[in-house]
Amino acid sequence: MIVSGSTSQALAAALARELEEPLAAVEYDRFPDGELLAAAPGVAEADPDRAVIVASTVSSDAHLELLQLQDAVREAGVEEVVTVLPYMGYGRQDAAFEPGHPVSARAVARAISTGTDRVLTVNPHETAVCEFFEPTATAVDAAGRLADPLPDDLTEPVFLSPDAGAIELAETTRDAYGTGETDYFEKTRHSGTEVEISPSDVDVAGRDVVVVDDIIATGSTMSEAVSVLCDRDAGRLFVTCVHPLLARDAVTKLSRAGVEAIYGTDTIERGVDTVSVAPALAEHL
Ligand code: R5P
Repeated sequence: MIVSGSTSQALAAALARELEEPLAAVEYDRFPDGELLAAAPGVAEADPDRAVIVASTVSSDAHLELLQLQDAVREAGVEEVVTVLPYMGYGRQDAAFEPGHPVSARAVARAISTGTDRVLTVNPHETAVCEFFEPTATAVDAAGRLADPLPDDLTEPVFLSPDAGAIELAETTRDAYGTGETDYFEKTRHSGTEVEISPSDVDVAGRDVVVVDDIIATGSTMSEAVSVLCDRDAGRLFVTCVHPLLARDAVTKLSRAGVEAIYGTDTIERGVDTVSVAPALAEHL
């Protein structure tokens, strides 16, 4: 039986269809003092052997709600609890970057591990975060789907990643598209919203460019990359990512920078054109 966190209802429904498993009735509420209550009455009623909880932890509330759903399905007598984190919040805080800082990814992984038998997560920022879970989480690669929504008439396409860390995503997207060159920019981050991008070596003049990253958060990285590409007379510009967090004014920022379309997957529910990671997840369930 599939159980959806409030942040992942569309993906949970897609996964239920993909697996031909029922989708549990759930309730999300908040007490007058602000405390949350997430419940799965549908699980108590159906009494399944397995519950697959699908919840992107995009906020502190979503984290808490996931812990409650894990507890609720155990309380209902489920034997196996599988937790699917389409997007793992705090995943980028995978080290203590300054003395006295926490390893937040480890802290949340430990909490989530206590309520589950197995964890799946989609394209974590660093695969090493999977080892913070007990037992180790499985990283599901959905990058092969990023090419799906691209127009099929791109002119001499170039697939670029904003930094060396995302070049594999750009290569996977190019391979799935079937043709094109790949390269990456050099990125220096000065703050949460200030990013400096140095041009890649590829000549982009007159060519259509797809910039590929794992996450678009504030859009600072992508908009810097796009403005470099505009300065170099690139053709049509597209950005695609696995996790369209699209915080604050990211969509406006990217549109103003000259992006024709923003694509992402349904690991995070946002108003952009998406492809579903449900088939990739289903292969592991
Ligand atoms: C970091 O290295 C990630 O791969 C992304 O590039 C980053 O999270 C994007 O953040 P923003 O959209 O805020 O620049």
